[in-house]
Amino acid sequence: MAGSAIGLGNIWRFPYVAGEYGGAAFIIVYLLACAFIALPIFFAETVIGRRGGADTFGSMKKLAPGSGWHRIGLLTILVPIIILSYYSVVGGWSVHYLIRSFGSGADDAVGHFGPFISSVKLPIIAHTVFIALVAIIVLAGVKKGIEKFTKITMPILFVLILAIVVFSVTLPGSGKGVEYLVNPDFSKLSADGIAAALGQAFFSLSLGVGTVLTYASYMRKQDDILFSGVGTAVSDFLFAMLAGFAVMPAVFAAGISPEAGPGLVFETLPYIFAKMGGGLVWLSTGLSLVFFATVLFAALTSAISLLEVGVAYLVEEKKMHRRTAVFSLVLFVWVVGILCSLSFGPLSNVTIFGDSIFDTLDKACANWLMPLGGLLFTLFVGWRMPSADVLDEFSNGGTKPLNRKIYPAVRFLIRYLAPAGIVAIILSAIFN
Ligand code: PHE
Repeated sequence: MAGSAIGLGNIWRFPYVAGEYGGAAFIIVYLLACAFIALPIFFAETVIGRRGGADTFGSMKKLAPGSGWHRIGLLTILVPIIILSYYSVVGGWSVHYLIRSFGSGADDAVGHFGPFISSVKLPIIAHTVFIALVAIIVLAGVKKGIEKFTKITMPILFVLILAIVVFSVTLPGSGKGVEYLVNPDFSKLSADGIAAALGQAFFSLSLGVGTVLTYASYMRKQDDILFSGVGTAVSDFLFAMLAGFAVMPAVFAAGISPEAGPGLVFETLPYIFAKMGGGLVWLSTGLSLVFFATVLFAALTSAISLLEVGVAYLVEEKKMHRRTAVFSLVLFVWVVGILCSLSFGPLSNVTIFGDSIFDTLDKACANWLMPLGGLLFTLFVGWRMPSADVLDEFSNGGTKPLNRKIYPAVRFLIRYLAPAGIVAIILSAIFN
């Protein structure tokens, strides 16, 4: 689950969204949204998934037979696949930059990103490579593919990002970046910013799209839901902050605006690496390799979880062969991904409410559809499932005293605070 949570959301999305909404103030709201809204939803999804023991459709049918609740499943098939479509484009960027680590100079580092993403062939090839890697891992299965890959890469990720943080905060001029992350400026925080913080919490914790639910259906009965949720949320937040401290100081040291948007990470770091190598090509190349390998691995462990949701559905509900399921979904992702990729170039004049295809899909998923899914999950667990069943699942049949003790608080969050919080934030963003 941590593998799913920690991904491009932390390294690529978090720094630039935080940058767009004013840094530290955004982070505080984001932290609150994680603790009081996202975490309860995480618990709700885990309870449904482990108790239902199947994909979203199957679990809902088992827990609420004869009702219409299983239709949430529709949301959890469509949204992850759409997210994966643009996720894979950014994953492709990291493949490209990983390869570009060899032999690129400081001069064209910042200038490279724009022409690259607006070109046609290269980003599409990179997107194709990325989604093919995802398909290979998911084809290998849940245990031998997903679990094995994730267990090996996650610890490595933390070591790599720590190394980059140390490097980044020691750059001349990096102090402003650190300040930006810890000194809140609340005047920059709008209703939109609060909605974006909520969206970032959902995106980063993989919530509201059935990913957590599907992974929970593979959990053992003796696993601790409280521990899994808190463990995932804490490591996810930690990693986002580490990524922030890796990227922001470098952004300021390079004299780039933190509001540079989706290109932030890709523009800044190659420049820094090239500069810091001080003419030593092996050093620049090494730093760049380490960083983009981190980005790529983090992206892969999340992308496989996005694909697995739909695969689990097709295999379990439609009795499809795992291979057929993977191939048909990947084909869809590949085509939509191409449109997303082209929206930075030839299709950049196609806009929906002023946003490109890429931005529209990202905002629609993170700021609207994921919170909607989360809302439905909390309503289901809070109001439809018998409280005794929820407690039974949350405390492993009453064998976890701590879980039993805090259950009333968790129940309050699931029933009232989380749904009310989501509705309030969405409404305020609409009326803004
Ligand atoms: N949480 C992942 C990230 O931060 C993205 C993701 C969203 C994965 C939804 C699964 C489901 O990169």
